Amino acid sequence: MSLFIAEHIGKKFGGVVALSDVSLTVDKGEIVGMIGPNGSGKTTFINNLSGLYSPTTGKFIFNDEDITGMPAYQITAKGVSRTFQNLRVFPNISILDNVLIGRHCRIDVPLWDVYVRIVRTRRKEAEARDKAMQILELANLTDRHLDMAKNLPYGEQRLLEICRAIASEPDLLLLDEPCAGMNPVEMDALANFIKLLKEKGVTVFVIEHNMRFIMQVAERLVVLESGRKFREGTPLEIQKDKEVQAIYLGDEEEA
Ligand SMILES: Nc1ncnc2c1ncn2[C@@H]1O[C@H](COP(=O)(O)OP(=O)(O)O)[C@@H](O)[C@H]1O
Ligand SMILES: [Mg+2]
Repeated sequence: MSLFIAEHIGKKFGGVVALSDVSLTVDKGEIVGMIGPNGSGKTTFINNLSGLYSPTTGKFIFNDEDITGMPAYQITAKGVSRTFQNLRVFPNISILDNVLIGRHCRIDVPLWDVYVRIVRTRRKEAEARDKAMQILELANLTDRHLDMAKNLPYGEQRLLEICRAIASEPDLLLLDEPCAGMNPVEMDALANFIKLLKEKGVTVFVIEHNMRFIMQVAERLVVLESGRKFREGTPLEIQKDKEVQAIYLGDEEEA
């Protein structure tokens, strides 16, 4: 069953065509990867889907609802959560608090009754804390939950960022180059973490520039090139594709 459908998405920034006629679907429970050279439109795709921008043309359907052009907070509330290409943890608060911030949109306490509100708030806070600790467990971070986030090694800060994104209990998790800047050991830990999230029922759409990493995690791949969908297939099909290899060659040599 499709959880998410992009239909003919186009995005222009002035005269620059960043995306053109991109259509794809993501089924419930899948891990789908999007790859492509730098500047091919990957981040723009997620920025439009998550409500940071509105597409110039096309539609995004999520859980059978048209969410095109809705503001970001509304799209988050509907169950889409994301991380960013550059690291965005809050360095000077605890690891646990970083996750609790991500859960904020799930704590809705009515304002009309002060007494009930105090009792409910306490109960909801306790529930939020338990849930945050369960999430940290997945990333092996419970022992250090009171440490400041800045004291974690880089790879674990990136895991923490994903923990925060799943704290809102999204149906769809969008990751933008999650392994950027990681060493190979950190990358393997991240790949295992993403597979664990799938086991927990999260659907993952992951943008990645690193071919070796995406081959490990994705079940299906979409290749973008100059804002267009260039190929779609299994990781094995994409890996063997001579034209995909050709568009990647220049970039790999740079890396
Ligand atoms: N806010 C923006 N304003 C103008 N141009 C943008 C903006 N965001 C992205 N672009 C352009 O859109 C194209 C795709 O960029 P991007 O989505 O960041 O690529 P990728 O994530 O694949 O590296 C690039 O040409 C980029 O310069
Ligand atoms: Mg990008």
